[in-house]
Amino acid sequence: MRLEPVTEDNYRAVIDLEVHEDQRNFVAANVRSIADAWVYRPRLQPLAVYSGDDLVGFTLLRREDPRDLRVVRFMIDRRAQGRGLGRKALAAIADVARSEGRTRLVLGIVPGNAVAHGLYAAFGFVETGEVERGEVVMAHDLAPAHHLDGDQ
Ligand SMILES: CC(C)(COP(=O)(O)OP(=O)(O)OC[C@H]1O[C@@H](n2cnc3c(N)ncnc32)[C@H](O)[C@@H]1OP(=O)(O)O)[C@@H](O)C(=O)NCCC(=O)NCCS
Repeated sequence: MRLEPVTEDNYRAVIDLEVHEDQRNFVAANVRSIADAWVYRPRLQPLAVYSGDDLVGFTLLRREDPRDLRVVRFMIDRRAQGRGLGRKALAAIADVARSEGRTRLVLGIVPGNAVAHGLYAAFGFVETGEVERGEVVMAHDLAPAHHLDGDQ
């Protein structure tokens, strides 16, 4: 599992990734996220998620508070879902945060997104009690490195 920059070589394939129709309310299209990243560069960082050589997902990260890494967008392509890749991609995102000395992952989730909520809760995210733009905020305090999620 690797997180790689979105470049001229992979951006068309990143745009072609898609979620299931009934998940479209839960995450913006990747083309929108890439546009957001360009407008708000360098605070927003778009990253392609690879499993081996296969492009399987996308995430958009935001750095503001030096302690936090915000997961603004996160998706696994519908053809690759349900194989544990979402959990592994989250572990890779957590490793990025740790490598920068950050202590918390933060994200917002659309109410009713039961699969993502279950995944985040199992990973250790808890609701902070905040609601931002209709999304329930969840945060995960990061343990120091050498944790048990270290899938490569
Ligand atoms: C949320 C998402 C990233 C999870 O990706 P994934 O690769 O399918 O996740 P995993 O395979 O690692 O599964 C994570 C957990 O969800 C469960 N799960 C996955 N798909 C499921 C489904 N369709 N129905 C029920 N449970 C499901 C898995 O069983 C697993 O739980 P477990 O570890 O207890 O077995 C993916 O569903 C997605 O892209 N959804 C649309 C976009 C979205 O909602 N993004 C989040 C925005 S906050």
